[in-house]
Amino acid sequence: MVNPVEGLHIAVFASGRGSNFQALLKAIEEKRIPNAEIVLVMSNNSDAGALEVAREHNIPTLHLSQKQFATEEEFNRALLQMLENHDVNLVALAGYMKRLHASVIQRYRNRIINIHPALLPGFSGKGMFGVHVHEAVIASGVKVTGVTVHIVDEEYDHGPIVLQRAVPVEDHDSPETLAARVLKVEHQLYPEAVRLFAEGKVRVNGRRVYIGQD
Ligand code: GRF
Repeated sequence: MVNPVEGLHIAVFASGRGSNFQALLKAIEEKRIPNAEIVLVMSNNSDAGALEVAREHNIPTLHLSQKQFATEEEFNRALLQMLENHDVNLVALAGYMKRLHASVIQRYRNRIINIHPALLPGFSGKGMFGVHVHEAVIASGVKVTGVTVHIVDEEYDHGPIVLQRAVPVEDHDSPETLAARVLKVEHQLYPEAVRLFAEGKVRVNGRRVYIGQD
């Protein structure tokens, strides 16, 4: 079992508009996720919409980029220190475009999650982000795509899958119309996944994630 914790202190990492962050925030505000708080929003991009939304909600923000540090090690040390300072016990990646260093993944083993706009292990890996995912889905001819929430491990788009939900691909879809349909489901599924962590219902065994009481 991923240790049930007293209260979930979530750090959201986002590089862009932050609609998934907003979906999480709304779910917490509406008490659909019990015992949870977003304690920090971090971005490598000072212009990220997510940072702006966080400021509007008086949530601490952090602009942290590798470029501000001489070495990768210093960057990771600063990042870990900030997570510790804010007593973070769950990191939710929401459109975060940078790879996390193994030291961060190790420190937060099974406590970093990501949302991917397709059904993993398909349509993943290098270059598979944003509209490129939906372009590849349409080009492949599959009739079903979807959303995956997974635990982050050392390999890109690879860690154990927590939740998945299917979304139909329609004949007339463009990458944009498909992206919009998938995004709506992302906004439902990510809060559902975080709720499972808040309730201590997530058990990881190898590549399998079991959802339940114990
Ligand atoms: C989402 O499609 C998510 O699945 C992917 O990046 C996108 C982020 O969108 N990882 P937003 O910034 O949350 O609006």
